[in-house]
Amino acid sequence: MLSGKRIILGVTGGIAAYKAVFLLREFQKAGAEVRVTMTPSAIRFVGLETFTSLSGHSVAVEIFPDESDPGEWTRHINWGEWADLFIIAPCTGNTLAKIANGISDNMLTATILAARSPILICPTMDGEMYESPSVTENLKRVQEFGYHILEPDSGFLASGLDGKGRLPEIPAILEKASEIIGSIKGPLEGKRVIVTAGPTREHIDPVRFISNPSSGKMGFAMAKAAQRMGAEVKVIHGPVSIPKPDGILTQDITSAQDLFSAVQVEADADVIIMSAAVSDFTPTETFEHKIKKDTGSDSVPLKKTTDILAWLGERKPKHQVLIGFAMETQHLIENANHKLQKKRADWMVANSLSTEGAGFESDTNSVHLLGKDVHEEFMGTKEEVAERVLNFIFNPQ
Ligand code: CTP
Repeated sequence: MLSGKRIILGVTGGIAAYKAVFLLREFQKAGAEVRVTMTPSAIRFVGLETFTSLSGHSVAVEIFPDESDPGEWTRHINWGEWADLFIIAPCTGNTLAKIANGISDNMLTATILAARSPILICPTMDGEMYESPSVTENLKRVQEFGYHILEPDSGFLASGLDGKGRLPEIPAILEKASEIIGSIKGPLEGKRVIVTAGPTREHIDPVRFISNPSSGKMGFAMAKAAQRMGAEVKVIHGPVSIPKPDGILTQDITSAQDLFSAVQVEADADVIIMSAAVSDFTPTETFEHKIKKDTGSDSVPLKKTTDILAWLGERKPKHQVLIGFAMETQHLIENANHKLQKKRADWMVANSLSTEGAGFESDTNSVHLLGKDVHEEFMGTKEEVAERVLNFIFNPQ
């Protein structure tokens, strides 16, 4: 249930903060990606470096980054958008009170306000504090906000007293987190999504081919975003050197014709995302053996490949959403709009090779989403762009 999920672990300044280190590890073992935000008092209990090195990500403490804590000052917004679950363990009475009143004076509390994900609070404090009227009132309040509470365990407390206030055991926290994540119904729940990705290779002979530098990153990011939105996803992709997306069915192809054959089988999917960089031309003949320099011709006769997106657009069933990509070097919007209409797609994600931070092998992208009377711009990492594009189409706010 937690595999591939994105979790923000909020750690506040209580003695149980050290247990959050083990919790982080268990989330990771379950396949989740975890980012940590700590309140300033939490770093008196556990060093920032512990969480930084274990999470592989800088730990956010204050809203405004500094040298020891780099990043954008809008991190709380980006993180809030990024997460599938925000869990605060341990959560002190002080942070609980801030959350109950919308106070957002550090990264953790500000991200709570920005979070789009469910929020799980694990109140952890001494027994008397936990039973105090204000904590009881604040817990009631955050429950009314729709936040989840995992009640503390009873037992031996750091004060030496016995009472209710211990951070629950890690398996109990994991179980609650899984239960919450399992109950989220994404906008693509029950939908079958086909994503094509990467380049195609059109072989001239066994050692030579026509291709392009597509890395497959954008297509894989689209697949992961669709999966996070609840879809059953399959990726059909050409030769790429990046890791396959976790937990997603993949099918390898080589040529444009292979891709066409594979897509035909899936033509009635609910959503088809054609992010593959399909070769428009293929040699009229593929030689079985390497062409020798001395005897080979100095030109390669080519023929056009099938335009798969246009083929899909012609046969598009009513229930299907068809998304194409357009890669241009000039007249971006005009050319992409032309492709949108000609290929009868519902949406076209247009990007220009001439825009800085966009293009084939880059980790970032800057795109224009074009649809019927719609023109939106998104930029960020390919993962962020994929998520924003699919959210705009399938999860409009
Ligand atoms: N596409 C396709 N089959 C092809 C070529 C392209 O399905 N034989 C799809 C791509 O996957 C993409 C969209 O069509 O979703 C636009 O691809 P692009 O390469 O930008 O445009 P082309 O149609 O190839 O036109 P041109 O090369 O002239 O810009």
